[in-house]
Amino acid sequence: MAMTRGIRRGVLLALVVSVTAAGSAAAAPLGGWQPQSRGSDVAARLKQQQPAPLSSYGPGGGGGGATGVFGDAGLGDPLFPLAGNGGYDVRHYALGLSYDPATTILDGTALVLASATESLSRFDLDLRGFTISDLRVDGRPASYTRDGQELQITPARPLRAGRPFTVSVRYSGTPEVIIDPDGSAEGWVPTSDGAFVVGEPQGSPGWFPVNDNPRDKATYDIAVSVPAGLTAVSNGVLLGQFTRKGKTTYVWHEGAPMASYLATATLGVFDLQRSRIEGIPSYVAVDPSQAADAAPALAQLPEIVKLFSDTYGRYPFDAVGAIVDDAPDVGYALESQTKPNFDRAPDDFTLAHEISHQWFGDAVTLTTWPDIWLHEGFATYSEWLWADHTGQFTPQDAFDYYYDNFAADDPLWSPPPGAVTDASDLFSNSVYLRGGMTLQALRVKIGDARFFTLLRRWYAQNRYGNVTTPEFIALAERVSGQDLTAFFDAWLYQEGRPASW
Ligand code: TRP
Ligand code: ZN
Repeated sequence: MAMTRGIRRGVLLALVVSVTAAGSAAAAPLGGWQPQSRGSDVAARLKQQQPAPLSSYGPGGGGGGATGVFGDAGLGDPLFPLAGNGGYDVRHYALGLSYDPATTILDGTALVLASATESLSRFDLDLRGFTISDLRVDGRPASYTRDGQELQITPARPLRAGRPFTVSVRYSGTPEVIIDPDGSAEGWVPTSDGAFVVGEPQGSPGWFPVNDNPRDKATYDIAVSVPAGLTAVSNGVLLGQFTRKGKTTYVWHEGAPMASYLATATLGVFDLQRSRIEGIPSYVAVDPSQAADAAPALAQLPEIVKLFSDTYGRYPFDAVGAIVDDAPDVGYALESQTKPNFDRAPDDFTLAHEISHQWFGDAVTLTTWPDIWLHEGFATYSEWLWADHTGQFTPQDAFDYYYDNFAADDPLWSPPPGAVTDASDLFSNSVYLRGGMTLQALRVKIGDARFFTLLRRWYAQNRYGNVTTPEFIALAERVSGQDLTAFFDAWLYQEGRPASW
C-alpha cells in the first residue's frame, strides 16, 4: 500500500516516478502472472443473482438440530466469508472504552442493540482476542465459546424472529493488531503516544464485538477514557468531555448509519480544532509533530468539502474533519466516517481522496468487498476533479498519462477493477487508477451533463445504503439511454489495458 499511497500522493509529474517504481516492483512476479479468463458478458453479470438480503442469512450451515437453530458464522463475502454473522441486524452500538498507552490494555464495555431476523438458539459476534469477564443477552448471563474471530453466544432464552435484543460484553486485554492479506496492519494499532484505530476491511473485531460486515450499518455512541492530556477522537459529534481522577473521557455520537470498518477511536497527543464547514461541525485533530506539514492541505479542507458537495450533492453526515496522526508504519490513510485517519500529514490529494469517500464508500457502500472499485475508483476520480478545480491537471490528462505510459500488459491494469478475486488485490493500483479511468472514459462516452447527473443520482438514491456494480451499470444505462455492455466489459472485466470500448 505504500505504492498505492505514493501514486495517490503525487501530482502528475510525481506520478511518473512513483508509478514506474510501483510497476517495476510488481514486475518481479510477472513470470507467475497468468491471464485468467473471466466472464466477459456484462449482461449475464447483470442477471447474476444479486446478493441475498441480510434476513435470508438466518439458520446457518452450522445447523443446530436438537440444540436449535444457529445463526451463520459469516455472511459469505467472497473475500471475507466469516465477516459478519447471520440471523440478526444491529441497530446501534454503545461502546465504553478505556485505554492506557503505558500498559496497552484496553478495557471495554460494548452494548449491542440488534433485532433478530430469525428465531435463533445461538448467534455469533466477531471479536479477536481479549478476555471476556461478563456477557449478557437481554440482561441475562449467556454462555459463549470462542472460535477464531467468532464469539459464539448461546442466550439463556432463544431469540425470537423480529424481536429486538441486547448483548452486553465486558472485555479486557492488549488488542491484537490484525494483518491483512496484503500485509498491512489494521485494527487498534499502537503508536508512540496512543493508538491509530482503522478498520478496513477487517480491523474492527480487534477492538469491539461487532457484526463486522459493511451490509449491517448501525449508529454508534463511543466513549473513550484516556490519561488526562491525551485526546480520543471518534466518529460523529463530540457530545462532551470530562476529566476525573486523572482520566479524560471523550463522548462521541455517530447518528448516521455507519459500516463497522469505518469506526475509529484514534487517541494520543492531539490538538483538536473545532469549527464549522458548510454549516457542519468540524473537528480536526492534529498530532503536533505533523502540524506544520499538514497545515497547507488542512487549509483546503473547506474548499474540498464545498467542491464535492457542489458536485455530488449535500455532504452526507453530521460532522466533518480529519485525524492527522504520526503512525508512519501503517502506510495508508482511511476514510473513517466523518473524520478520515491519516498516518502522517496528508497532501491535498490524499485529503481530497479521503473526504470524497464520505460520499462514495461511507454513505454509498459496497455490498461485498470485490466491488471495492466503487469506493477507490470514485475517490481517485475525485482527486482528479480536485486537480482540475485547482488548475493542476484535468481528469483527461490523468487518463492520457496512464493510458499512454503503461503497456497493455503492465500490472497497472490488473486485476480488472470489477474482477478482484484475491483479497491482497483490494487496494491495488488497478482498483484505484483503472477504476478512476473507467469513470473518465464513461464521462467521455456519455457526455459531461449525463455523467454528473449519474453521479448525483447514484449518491442520492443510495446514500446510507449498500450497492453493487451491476446496479451502477444499470443506472448508467438508464441515465445515458445507451447500451453500455461492451463499455463496462472492456473497462471492468477484461484483462489488460482496454483497447476499444
Ligand atoms: N481505503 C483506503 C483509502 O484508499 C486505503 C486502505 C484501507 C488500505 N485499508 C488498507 C490500503 C489496507 C492498503 C491496505 O482511502
Ligand atoms: Zn481510498
